[in-house]
Amino acid sequence: MVKSATKKTLKEKTKKFYITTPIYYPNDIPHIGHAYTTIAADILARWHKLVGEEVFFLTGTDEHGKKIEQTAAKVDKKPKEFIDALIPEFKSAWNKLNINYDRFIRTTDKDHEKTVQAILQKVYDKGDIYLDDYTGLYCTACEAYYTEKDLVNDCCPIHKKPIEILREKSYFFKLSKYQDKLLKFYKENPNFILPKFRANEVKARVKECLNDLSISRTSFDWGITLPFDKKHICYVWFDALFNYVSGVGYLEDKKKFEKFWPADVQLIGKDILWFHCVYWPAFLLSAGIELPKTIFAHGWWTFDNEKISKSRGKVINIDELVSIAGTDAARYFLFRGAVFGQDGDFSRQVLIERHNNELADKLGNLVSRVSTLAEKYGVKKCENKLLGKLKLKEIEKLIENYEIDKALNEIFAFVDRVNEFVQAEKPWETKDSKVLYQCVDSIKAIAILLFPFIPETSEKIAKNFGFEIKYENILENLEYKNIKKSEILFKKIEVKEDNVEEKLNKPKQTTKIEGIANMTDVIKYDDFAKLDLRVGTIKKVEDIEGADKLYKLEVDVGEAKTRVICAGIKKFYSKDELKGKQIIVICNLEPRKMRGIESNGMLLAASTADDSKVILLSPEKKIDSGSKVR
Ligand code: MSP
Repeated sequence: MVKSATKKTLKEKTKKFYITTPIYYPNDIPHIGHAYTTIAADILARWHKLVGEEVFFLTGTDEHGKKIEQTAAKVDKKPKEFIDALIPEFKSAWNKLNINYDRFIRTTDKDHEKTVQAILQKVYDKGDIYLDDYTGLYCTACEAYYTEKDLVNDCCPIHKKPIEILREKSYFFKLSKYQDKLLKFYKENPNFILPKFRANEVKARVKECLNDLSISRTSFDWGITLPFDKKHICYVWFDALFNYVSGVGYLEDKKKFEKFWPADVQLIGKDILWFHCVYWPAFLLSAGIELPKTIFAHGWWTFDNEKISKSRGKVINIDELVSIAGTDAARYFLFRGAVFGQDGDFSRQVLIERHNNELADKLGNLVSRVSTLAEKYGVKKCENKLLGKLKLKEIEKLIENYEIDKALNEIFAFVDRVNEFVQAEKPWETKDSKVLYQCVDSIKAIAILLFPFIPETSEKIAKNFGFEIKYENILENLEYKNIKKSEILFKKIEVKEDNVEEKLNKPKQTTKIEGIANMTDVIKYDDFAKLDLRVGTIKKVEDIEGADKLYKLEVDVGEAKTRVICAGIKKFYSKDELKGKQIIVICNLEPRKMRGIESNGMLLAASTADDSKVILLSPEKKIDSGSKVR
C-alpha cells in the first residue's frame, strides 16, 4: 500500500488537471448554490494538486447580457459600475470559504473579449453563422429562449415570470448541422456527460430535434460586439462559454492553453446542462477546438424544499453559511449532506448536528484525546497496522469518479476505525506508546486525506503533530516528536430551542420571533406567495355618494376589463393626481361590498401610525398594467 501511493504520485507528477466552475451572474451576492459548485471544484483541485498533478482551477463571473443590464438600470447604474461593486463580494466569499482558484475570470476582461471576437470570426468565416429574422419567447432571468411547449401558464418554467416576445434581426449559429456529430461524440465518449443518467435526457432531446440558435442581439448593447457586424452584440451564452478557453490563454498564452486544454472536468449545476452539453461542444466543434473531457452536473440545493431564490426569500448567503459553524463545517456539510450529482435540502440544524456529532465528536475528540495522551506518554515508532484498514485505493477511485460524498464517507469510516482502536486499546490505562504512535500516524493519514475537504483543520492537525501534508506521507510511517495537546478543533454548538433561524426553517409554523417579536408575525414564504400582487393603472376616479373618504376607481390590472376598487384615499389624493397613476393592487382579495359597490381588490399604501398620512405605493418607472409584483 505504501508503495502504491508513492508510485502513483511519481508517475503522475507531470499530469495536468484543468477544472472549471460555471461563471456566475454578478447580479447579486453569491449564495449557497454558487458555493456548492465552487467548493466542489476546490476539493477536486486540491486533491489533484495533492497527488502531484499540475492543476489549473478557473472560476469567475458572467458579466454581459440583458439581465445584468436590467439589474444595474434598476439601481440607476451603468452595468460595469454595478458589477465592479459586486466582484469584491464574490472574491471575499470565495476567500471565506477557503477557495484556492488560479484565475478569477470576468467576461469583461480584455483577453476574454478578444477571444470571443476571434472565435466568432472563425465560426463566421467557416459559414456556420448566418443572418435571419428572429421571433422568440425569451426569459431574461434565464437568458434563454423557450418554445410554447416549455412554458407553464405562459410563464418561464424556471422563474415562473411572464415570458417576453423578442423580435429582431439576428445572426444564427448552425446548430442543426451538429446534431449527428454531437450524437456520435456522445456515443464515443461515454464519460462526456456525468453522472450518466443526465446524459440520457440530453441525448434524447438532441435526437428529437436541434434548431439553429440565435446568437446575436440588437435590442440592447451590453455585450461583445460581433466583429463582422458592429450593430449586433453576441448572445451572452456564446460569450460566457468561451471563458473556459480564454481563461487558460487561448489567444494570448498558447503554451498555457496547450498545456491545460481540454478541460478535465467542467462542473455545472443540472440547470445548465443543455448549454454545456449541446451548445458548448457544438461551438467548439465549429471553432475547431478540442472538446472537454467531462461535464459533470451536480444537483440543486433547496432551502425548505424550495428552489433557492433571493426574490422568494429562500436564500443563504456565504456569511450566513460560514457563521453557523465555520468554514470547514460548511464545506464538510455540503459534501456529507447530499450525494454529489443529486439534489440536497439545506438545513441549519442538520449542519449543526453533523458539526457536533461527526466533526467535533468523532474527529475533534480523536485528535484531542490522542494528542493529550501522546504529550503525556510519548509515541514509539512501530509498524502502523491500522493503515491496512484505510481503503485508499477505493477513496482514489471514488474521487476519480467524482463521487466526492462517498470518498468523504470512506475517510470518516477510517476515523471510526481509529476511534474503535483507541476504545479497545485504552492507552490512557496502558500508557502504551506504540498504540499511541499508531493513533497519531493514522490521524496523519486522515488529516492528509481530509485536506481537500477541510483544509484549515488539516493544517492545524499537521502543525500540531509536526508532519507535512503530502500525499506520499499518507501510508508512510513517519517520525513524531514533541507532540503537544491539540487546541479544540470544533467547539460544539448548542441548538437552542428558540433559535431564530430554526423557527424560520420549520415548515407551517407562524410564530413570533424573540427579539424582533413585537414587530410582526412571521409568515412562511408560501403564505406570501399566495398574494396576487400586480401593477394597476387607474383609468377612472369617481366620488361615492355620502362617502367622504372613499373613491370608486376603475383600474386596469392587465385583464380584459378594468376592475372596480373602492379606496379610502380621498383625503390624500385629488382625482387628477390619481388618473393615469400606476399603483400596486392585491388582486386576489375576496370581493367586498362598500357603500353598495362591490370592490375587487385593494391598493397598497404606506401610512403613518395614526393614518394622518397615506401614500400610495407606485412602481418607480412605467410598466405594463398587470405586471407581477414579487
Ligand atoms: N452565468 C451562467 C453560467 C455560465 S457558465 C459559462 C449561470 N450563472 S448562475 O449564477 O445563475 O448560476 C451558476 C451556477 O450556480 C449553476 O449552474 C449552479 O452550478 C449553481 N447554482 C445556483 N443555484 C444553485 C442551487 N440552488 N443549488 C446548487 N447549485 C446552484 O447560470
